[in-house]
Amino acid sequence: MSVDTSARTVMERCEILASYSEEPDRLTRRFATRAMQQVNETVMAWMHAAGMTVEQDNIGNLIGRYEASHAGAKTLLLGSHLDTVRDAGKYDGPLGVMVALACVERLFARQKRLPFAIEVLAFADEEGLRYNNAYLGSKFMTGTLDPKVLHLTDTKGITMAEAIRSFGGNPDPDTLQIARWRQDELLGYCEVHIEQGPVLEARNLPVGVVTAISGQNRLSVSFTGEAGHAGTVPMSLRHDALCAAAEFVLSVETLAGSLPGVVATVGQVTVQPGASNVIPGKVVLSLDVRHQDNAVRELASDQLEELAREICDTRGVSLGWQLLQEHKTIPCAPGLTRLLEQAIEEMGYPLLSLPSGAGHDGVTLSELTNIAMLFVRCRDGISHNPAESVTVEDVDVALNVLERFVLLYSV
Ligand code: GLV
Ligand code: MN
Ligand code: MN
Repeated sequence: MSVDTSARTVMERCEILASYSEEPDRLTRRFATRAMQQVNETVMAWMHAAGMTVEQDNIGNLIGRYEASHAGAKTLLLGSHLDTVRDAGKYDGPLGVMVALACVERLFARQKRLPFAIEVLAFADEEGLRYNNAYLGSKFMTGTLDPKVLHLTDTKGITMAEAIRSFGGNPDPDTLQIARWRQDELLGYCEVHIEQGPVLEARNLPVGVVTAISGQNRLSVSFTGEAGHAGTVPMSLRHDALCAAAEFVLSVETLAGSLPGVVATVGQVTVQPGASNVIPGKVVLSLDVRHQDNAVRELASDQLEELAREICDTRGVSLGWQLLQEHKTIPCAPGLTRLLEQAIEEMGYPLLSLPSGAGHDGVTLSELTNIAMLFVRCRDGISHNPAESVTVEDVDVALNVLERFVLLYSV
């Protein structure tokens, strides 16, 4: 199959962006870091060359705007995020921005203007790695960022407000609740993203349309016991915070496994004081709970809290249970989704609809406009892992589908 050069360019650009990392041997690009500034500068240059005006907003999102054929027209939003998880792959986020950019590049090359403007959005933080708070970029754009998050600190004690300032932004709490657009100025938001799961590969399909984005809870759970001497405190008299946390981690796995469709993950653990000859006094861990059905997610979360309390009571340890973020399941809009399906069908591919277990910026954008998502097959369904891989052939299909989607919208 012949592949257009613009799909090759997308792949090359994902490689280039992956070279901007905070760590020498692996890809980690957190919010408001030098690595983020480097990718922003790089993407900004590509956007300019594609005929867009470009702006970096007050928390570091990039907005590339390709003007409409006439003044006063509405705006269609495309895009994804440029931050990554720790030790990330190259495609989660950047692929969606690069495909959207390539789509505009194709229009610009033909000097084609549409009856609406296109804004390519490159969000500064979707993963929430630095402040354990997801969707910062899209929340800022939609005016839904809670000013309280400005006081959150990263592992070095730097507040979010300080990070934004040192990135050249302005963390003015009074502006946080002003959306970038009015609802009636927008036509919708469409994001291309790797599937991050194995379904498309199993069905031998390059792309699929997303039905809904699963809801999720992010929590911080703390176990406070009593630090003590590892050589002198008998086992029966200990209140070891790590033993309580370990028991909880295993019960998360068991409980989630017993509720069909529930996924629950403990991905971060800190142990204090953290010495080999000191009984752990305090453990703080992250908990991520997801399900398509909001009621099931809430039930799972409640049951996990009950389990944690039982474990703590038995062990004489006290529990801290803090819900950091809660997002409901968000359905994709039937009208926009139908256009993606039409584009896929015109290209002769079978249609496959699938839900997204991963979170995406569309969750936040949906507060302001209709959303749609196109998934691209990835190898072995692997993501949040440096082994993330997509083929240029599949990227070519995704780019053609997105371009066709945009053109279908304009007729
Ligand atoms: C983002 O990748 C998430 O689903 O947590
Ligand atoms: Mn991700
Ligand atoms: Mn992503």
